Amino acid sequence: MTAQTTEARTWKRTHTCGDLRLQHVDQEVILNGWVDARRNHGGIYFVDLRDRYGITQVVLREELAGATKIGPEFVISVRGKVLGRDAANVNPQRKTGEIEVIVQELEILSSSPTPPFEVLEELDTAIETRLRYRFIDLRRGPLQRNMIHRSRFVNAMRRAFERQNFIEVETPILTKATPEGARDYLVPSRVHPGEFYALPQSPQIFKQILMVSGFDRYFQVARCFRDEDLRADRQPEFTQLDMEMSFVEEEEVFAAWEKVITETFAEVQGVELETPFQRMPFAEAMERFGSDKPDLRFGLELCDVAAWARESEFKVFTSVLEAGGRVVGLCVPQAKGFSRKQVEALGAVVGEYGAKGLAWWKASREGGTGPLARFAAGEKAGALMDLMGAEDGDLCLFVADRESVVLRSLGELRNHLADQLDLRAESWKFLWVTEFPLFQRDEETGRLASAHHPFTAPVDWDMTGADSEPEKLASRAYDLVLNGWELGSGSVRIHRTDVQTKIFELLQIEPEEQELKFGFLLEALRYGPPPHAGFALGLDRTVALTLGLDNIRDVVAFPKTTSASDLMCGAPSEVSPEQLEEVHVRSVAKPGGAS
Ligand code: AMO
Ligand code: AMP
Repeated sequence: MTAQTTEARTWKRTHTCGDLRLQHVDQEVILNGWVDARRNHGGIYFVDLRDRYGITQVVLREELAGATKIGPEFVISVRGKVLGRDAANVNPQRKTGEIEVIVQELEILSSSPTPPFEVLEELDTAIETRLRYRFIDLRRGPLQRNMIHRSRFVNAMRRAFERQNFIEVETPILTKATPEGARDYLVPSRVHPGEFYALPQSPQIFKQILMVSGFDRYFQVARCFRDEDLRADRQPEFTQLDMEMSFVEEEEVFAAWEKVITETFAEVQGVELETPFQRMPFAEAMERFGSDKPDLRFGLELCDVAAWARESEFKVFTSVLEAGGRVVGLCVPQAKGFSRKQVEALGAVVGEYGAKGLAWWKASREGGTGPLARFAAGEKAGALMDLMGAEDGDLCLFVADRESVVLRSLGELRNHLADQLDLRAESWKFLWVTEFPLFQRDEETGRLASAHHPFTAPVDWDMTGADSEPEKLASRAYDLVLNGWELGSGSVRIHRTDVQTKIFELLQIEPEEQELKFGFLLEALRYGPPPHAGFALGLDRTVALTLGLDNIRDVVAFPKTTSASDLMCGAPSEVSPEQLEEVHVRSVAKPGGAS
């Protein structure tokens, strides 16, 4: 016991590796950390000692016990004296760059084999290797800063919710299927043979039930699980900042979030945001930007040119219009200098989204150049320029097709041009996109599906026209968009049984299926539900965006690959026949292969 206490005293740190400054000169200190780099200058070792607070240079003589044994990523403890550096040796890049520690005593606390990659700020090591050795990857400055930022961000949000009198409630992880539309992760039950829990895709149902129970302001830092195709902005498990409120409509939900977000940005990001955030109905976002998550950091709005195209001699345009399609243009003043080759390369961009071509025109009242020039002779040239707000020499681009193809392809082209021409000004453009369609039709099965989820209220509670043209119904679902990213979604919910029944009817979800899937919510909603609305912010995406990152993997401590594997712990993995037996499951898959 005594020995341990004495030993502890000798190596425990007095300061971190980010603490020491000129004011500490001549003090005796003990530092603990990892050996970041080691240089030998004629029998003197200069060691960069690293912990999460910084790096301090410590100086060891070769004769010092243990000095020759230390290697990269060893954990050591040094006791020594702080010395001010000569002006010539000051390292202005480092907070501790004005001092060094002359070591009198060294203790090696643990050793390390040569790590598979160096702990550098920038690394081009394959991502698989980095994920396999995530514990080392996480020692790197960028990941340490990301995780610290994430922690500060989520804690600031928590406090901001608490200031508004929200209470945090934890909802179950072992539960029933939730209605977010992805595949569920299932967990077999041991005590109920043949039965399964589902991991929640969101706390949606429970948070609505909490409203029925009278917790009128709920929030939760909620882990969600979705078995879906993964991309840079999707992980199979991720975190939502989830909330729900009673006796409110859209505006109160927006105001609550605007407060939380502005307070968090002020605290963590050092940025003062303007409120209220801009609002825009879905239909307007599609029409002006060809996207339900428009990046408002730049202009380049779409322009309907049907009126002009209808009067033109260009068969491609007139025939598309006759068939009920659309002809829409994009005027790009910044692309005046584009060569023919550069313009034609843009055709491939819209082609990816189904457009059959990209007509173009370098505008001029004299007729201009490009494939459209011969249809823009005489007064037609000026008329088109006026319609599009084009100046002499501006590049005008056009797609004619079904509406969905036209808007989507031009929306993507708009983003592509913003990257190519570097148009995205540095700013935080938050936007509430409102009134999403209530339903969308599955192109394969022809069946209606909820655009958000089936508990989302219609704008018109009477649902006029629901039977003839359900796709035309607008919903009270909304998204929060930041700089072209969907950060989160929510809606005003249905608290009226008649409306909920009608929605299920239109979705062709039979009463038995309703009962099986969401029976407990429907039952709760019969017992005095308050009008309520809510929202969930994707925390990983938000944190990534505030750090300027485009892959959420970099803000998740232990992320999964695009095939949903954890390369460090080797999940998913086989389990023993006994374990399967215990949960009454027999696998039909060959180990490591498909079923
Ligand atoms: P939704 O399904 O739109 O809404 O999800 C809300 C937000 O969660 C984030 N998100 C993801 N982030 C990382 N990886 C994923 N696989 C992933 N999937 C979603 C996104 C998204 O905007 N229950 C509703 C909310 C509500 O109505 O209150 C819901 O879950 O940023
Ligand atoms: P074509 O007459 O097919 O040679 O096409 C003339 C121009 O119109 C070319 O620049 C094509 O890329 C363009 N074009 C063809 N189909 C479409 C379309 N559906 N929408 C826009 N432009 C198109």
